[in-house]
Amino acid sequence: MLNFNIWRGGLLLFKKLSTSTAHGDPELLVGLDLGTTKVSVVVAERESRTGEAQIIGIGSAPSNGMRKGLIVNLEQAIRSVRQAISDAENMVGLELKEATVAFSGSEVRSVRSKGMVSLGRSPRPVMQLDVERVIEAAQTEVSVPANQCVLHAIPVEYFLDGHGGIDDPSGMTGVRLEIDLQSVIVPTAVLQNVLNCVERAGLEVSGLVIKPLASALGMLSKEEAMAGTVAVDVGGGTTGVAVFLDGRPRHLSVIPVGGDHITNDIASVLKMPISKAEEIKKEVSLFEGGDGAEDVIEFDVRGRSYSCRVMDVVEVVRCRLEELYSVLIKRDIADVSPSNLSGGVVMCGGVAKTADIDVLVSELLDMPARVSLPLDHDRMPPGRNGVEFVSAAGIIRYMLEKERNPFRYMEPSMDLVRRQGGYSRVVTEEQRPKGPVERVSRGHGFGEILERIKRSIEELF
Ligand SMILES: Nc1ncnc2c1ncn2[C@@H]1O[C@H](COP(=O)(O)OP(=O)(O)OP(=O)(O)O)[C@@H](O)[C@H]1O
Ligand SMILES: [Mg+2]
Repeated sequence: MLNFNIWRGGLLLFKKLSTSTAHGDPELLVGLDLGTTKVSVVVAERESRTGEAQIIGIGSAPSNGMRKGLIVNLEQAIRSVRQAISDAENMVGLELKEATVAFSGSEVRSVRSKGMVSLGRSPRPVMQLDVERVIEAAQTEVSVPANQCVLHAIPVEYFLDGHGGIDDPSGMTGVRLEIDLQSVIVPTAVLQNVLNCVERAGLEVSGLVIKPLASALGMLSKEEAMAGTVAVDVGGGTTGVAVFLDGRPRHLSVIPVGGDHITNDIASVLKMPISKAEEIKKEVSLFEGGDGAEDVIEFDVRGRSYSCRVMDVVEVVRCRLEELYSVLIKRDIADVSPSNLSGGVVMCGGVAKTADIDVLVSELLDMPARVSLPLDHDRMPPGRNGVEFVSAAGIIRYMLEKERNPFRYMEPSMDLVRRQGGYSRVVTEEQRPKGPVERVSRGHGFGEILERIKRSIEELF
């Protein structure tokens, strides 16, 4: 086990270790957050005795070639990813081989569907195969356009003989199993570009997660996830929204608006260079009052003088945040009753550093609001444990949750994505791997997990 204290002393910079244990099993969990402002690579190490994972380092590099969460220049994006990988490798003193990647993009849709299967005439216990069947039944109800594909299939709730609220029906007895399933659909090209970018930068993609899900897992407490909470990650180019209720994500989406819009607004309304607008926006507080509000900021850029009033900067920032929260986010979560959101709003991402944003958002949405550090912040490297690293840390939590419960956040096998360039469902008969299947290792796709389940059932009978 690598020790954080050693890392703090910088000694690991000089160590080059292997990524494998003596038994050849991978012991590292790696997450890569492909952001518009920065690329982050989080590395966690699994403790062999407890199976728990601890973050041992986070690499980061400025992001180029990305706009509104999408890759717009592949070569530039590859360079940024490479830089972040090598930063992480230097920090932990290990060579990284594969990662689960968090990404976003504007056309993320989350669609709900229902499925139902019969368990027979007389009651019998639900087997994992039945769970698989009911998920497939719900997936057939989702129509996926030709150029889009399902990234996640997330069971929201199971029903047994009409009784809902069931978290995991395995082993429970009944005659009819139903499911309420959430499918996250993304454009196939977006997925392919992400895969292409990260693999060309040198890491094999072992899994994919949509950013708002990673962010929510990275910051919501168990109580908040149960009570009903909106998790909002406002980054540079996007805003990720996740509504959690009863511990499950009910809604996931990405709004293509972020802190870059605030910077651009300041630059264009108050007529100043982008670099200065970016700097100034980080200094103001949303409830700047008293004498300070009348203050004038004066500066020179390349021999030209500029000036603006603090209160005008605040006005521009507030305006954009009001549009984001009162219009875009409100509309996005309109299907969720406010009475189901007693946990309020929890925020992360670079924009959450805006002074007094919690007060403003609480007013705008009329619910409690707080800004959150990563749940794992005290075990993350200092300087890389702030609000903008919540989504990166959340990838590790996503990987662990998926491992503990393979049916919670299903995603397709990466081989399928590579081979077929897309898929309309997380799993279908034709897509399942043919022939003997190797032991499923951590972090693999749903197709392989199904094979393992099938094999264990075969062995049983
Ligand atoms: N102190 C601050 N006050 C206000 N905004 C800030 C502050 N610090 C950073 N930001 C803004 O946060 C944004 C970057 O946030 P973050 O690092 O979370 O983005 P990202 O994850 O790379 O992007 P995305 O998730 O949208 O793809 C930038 O617009 C930056 O200007
Ligand atoms: Mg982000």
